[in-house]
Amino acid sequence: MTTLINTIDELQQTLQPLRNKRIALVPTMGNLHEGHLALVKQARNLADIVVVSVFVNPTQFGIDEDFDSYPRTLDSDVEKLTTVDTDFVFAPNVEEMYQDYPKLPATHVQLGELAKLLCGKSRPTHFDGVGLVVCKLFNIVQPNIAIFGKKDYQQLALIRQLTADLSYPIEIIGADIVRDENGLALSSRNQYLTDKEREIAPKLYEVIHRLAKKVTRGEHLVIGLPELITKSVQELQAFGFNIDYLKVRTQQLTEATSTDKKLVVLVAAWLGKARLLDNQEITVEV
Ligand code: PAJ
Repeated sequence: MTTLINTIDELQQTLQPLRNKRIALVPTMGNLHEGHLALVKQARNLADIVVVSVFVNPTQFGIDEDFDSYPRTLDSDVEKLTTVDTDFVFAPNVEEMYQDYPKLPATHVQLGELAKLLCGKSRPTHFDGVGLVVCKLFNIVQPNIAIFGKKDYQQLALIRQLTADLSYPIEIIGADIVRDENGLALSSRNQYLTDKEREIAPKLYEVIHRLAKKVTRGEHLVIGLPELITKSVQELQAFGFNIDYLKVRTQQLTEATSTDKKLVVLVAAWLGKARLLDNQEITVEV
């Protein structure tokens, strides 16, 4: 049975007698798709109690971003969560999480340098906002494990760092990206795409997948990584993408050197109104 809970007090009282069991938390902003549900299924396999939070967190949106228009679909989210055997859906309203909203809390979470790279360059306040809400959710739910998607690769890396730095006794699990049949990584923001853009959007994965294959074969060691990346950027631009960044990094998101074998290609690109993210891990085979 899936129970919907809206307040911190009620959630904590409900979880109190269940603390001897293994509790998994899956944080989300709702508008759930198969990518989110895959995380919940994984939680179900790893834990006795599955808590899914549904909260569109204002502190992680920039002032000119889509906080107001972000799709809110709690009823259908709860229905979907019932099908994957979720125990508790925690869906607080914004004042429950931030008492003085729209005034932001006096206490901040400031993540390290990693939060300033990649997505952090164009969204300078984003990851600190994610850090704040994730700390609050960790403190409220006190889970044994928490599951995040690799689709938001930098977010996952930052949460691993935050969990270690603040000594949260929580195991962080990274879940694989769930894609549409055409390769497009599922995302709530795909809804912002027009029909025509939907046809183009899968090219994002096609191009980074091709780049990943070349790097797997070691072509970057011959041709050079910047040259390979420039070619991929040009391909994406020709399809109409506006590139925020396209990088190949180590899986810890540091600059890659020619001896690194475990890499990841990461891209963020605008297509019309949608900012699309994707990535693929690479193991260099030479
Ligand atoms: P949201 O975008 O709703 O995503 C919730 C979780 O689902 C994240 O861990 C994200 O990486 C994962 N996810 C989204 N699409 C996925 C896909 N196609 N395949 C696999 N996993 C996918 O990320 C957030 O919310 C917020 O920043 C949050 C962590 C909840 C903090 O507010």
